[in-house]
Amino acid sequence: MSALSTILFGLVLSSASLAPVVKASTPLVRSYEGSTFFDRWDYFGSYDNTTNGDVTYANESVADASPELTYITSSNTAIIKVDNTSTVAYNYKRNSVKITSQDSYDVGSVWVLDAVHLPYGCSVWPAFWSYGKGATWPQQGEIDTIEGVNMGYSNQMALHTEDGCAITTSSSAYTGTVNDTSCYYEDNDNSGCAITDTNYKSYGSEFATAGGGVFVTELSTEGISIWFFTRSNIPSAISNANTSIDTSNLGTPSAFYSSTGCDISKFFGSQSLVFDITLCGDWAGQSSILSSTGCSALTGTNTCYTTYVLDSSNYDTAYFEINSLKVYSNGTSSSSSSSNTTSAAVPVLGSISSEILGPRTIILSTIFIVSVVLSTL
Ligand SMILES: *[C@@H]1O[C@H](CO)[C@@H](O)[C@H](O)[C@H]1NC(C)=O
Ligand SMILES: *[C@@H]1O[C@H](CO)[C@@H](O)[C@H](O)[C@H]1NC(C)=O
Ligand SMILES: *[C@@H]1O[C@H](CO)[C@@H](O)[C@H](O)[C@H]1NC(C)=O
Ligand SMILES: *[C@@H]1O[C@H](CO)[C@@H](O)[C@H](O)[C@H]1NC(C)=O
Ligand SMILES: *[C@@H]1O[C@H](CO)[C@@H](O)[C@H](O)[C@H]1NC(C)=O
Ligand SMILES: *[C@@H]1O[C@H](CO)[C@@H](O)[C@H](O)[C@H]1NC(C)=O
Ligand SMILES: *[C@@H]1O[C@H](CO)[C@@H](O)[C@H](O)[C@H]1NC(C)=O
Repeated sequence: MSALSTILFGLVLSSASLAPVVKASTPLVRSYEGSTFFDRWDYFGSYDNTTNGDVTYANESVADASPELTYITSSNTAIIKVDNTSTVAYNYKRNSVKITSQDSYDVGSVWVLDAVHLPYGCSVWPAFWSYGKGATWPQQGEIDTIEGVNMGYSNQMALHTEDGCAITTSSSAYTGTVNDTSCYYEDNDNSGCAITDTNYKSYGSEFATAGGGVFVTELSTEGISIWFFTRSNIPSAISNANTSIDTSNLGTPSAFYSSTGCDISKFFGSQSLVFDITLCGDWAGQSSILSSTGCSALTGTNTCYTTYVLDSSNYDTAYFEINSLKVYSNGTSSSSSSSNTTSAAVPVLGSISSEILGPRTIILSTIFIVSVVLSTL
């Protein structure tokens, strides 16, 4: 063995034995909350052309004018809602909101949504999701963290991808119920590899009654995980994740998509985050779906639109109320906003200390230890 290979051999052994000491944490890069919640989003500003829903997504000036559809409450929560006051004339769409983050977050990121209310009600179809804006959909993947229709009953998560990504791991890796294993958008009418949460507090009136909760989405090379914790059950690893998050002790996630069935780096790119609420459309608006999710089936020639959308009083619970959305990331995030060319990743206190404790520093000190040992021989 040459001196160099002895050093390299020692280096491998030393880093392996030191590895468990490294805290598996990911630094906070952005927090959307309070008065600045809506600062870095693009408003869709036109008809919902993807789910055939009966809404017009407001532009920013419409959403800011009365009746306000996006605003901050006196208790510092952010509201994203359907217009539940205006009378809509027959054949016109109701105003709602779809906003997309100007920043996108690469593989190696975790986003944590803390909400006290999710939109629900007959004909209501909200989602909190992400997709790779930098390519033709779905080449960089789509992750649906929250999706529900009508009165419930629990949250449905899913991925949508190109061909070759599927759920292959056993059901012990997640607590949810699998609806479909293939994530390929051409399979199962593009319903994706959906997993339904077994906890009814993850959506609808039960979510609200429980005081809401927290959804954690982790996009890492090992897989995509989604956890849900009801308000009374939020682990300290989340409530204390002020400068970085360690997901290693959060327990079995509701949904897990392992890299063994889906090469994450191949099917997923930098994700932009999206909130939207549509009405009726391809999923929520079907008569059979309405009747299986707590609403009356459609009668006679009535459509979902004529039954619900014209009456504003159907939408009093059709709103997100959000405490915060925090993004943690090892990677560099990118911003598509032409009005802001500064680096999107906001350095926060703590990313510095995680850098000091990071693997690179440990490898350097290992080299130092190995060379000291060699020189004393
Ligand atoms: C960020 O890097 C740390 C240290 O390598 C790692 O433990 C953690 O899993 C990474 N986070 C993500 C979301 O991949
Ligand atoms: C939907 O609207 C967006 C933004 O205006 C546009 O880029 C996209 O091509 C439209 N999609 C369809 C299917 O019409
Ligand atoms: C916003 O939408 C409204 C209603 O469609 C339209 O009248 C207005 O010109 C739009 N404003 C901007 C800035 O695009
Ligand atoms: C998915 O599975 C759950 C649990 O079995 C079921 O309640 C739900 O209706 C299914 N969703 C769809 C869209 O088929
Ligand atoms: C994190 O912030 C919360 C709220 O400000 C605070 O109660 C908690 O003590 C902080 N935790 C740590 C570890 O700093
Ligand atoms: C509309 O919804 C809000 C919650 O977003 C609620 O406070 C209000 O009472 C509802 N109804 C009317 C007529 O504004
Ligand atoms: C660009 O973003 C940075 C970081 O969030 C912010 O401090 C700055 O004010 C923004 N500049 C403009 C022109 O919006």
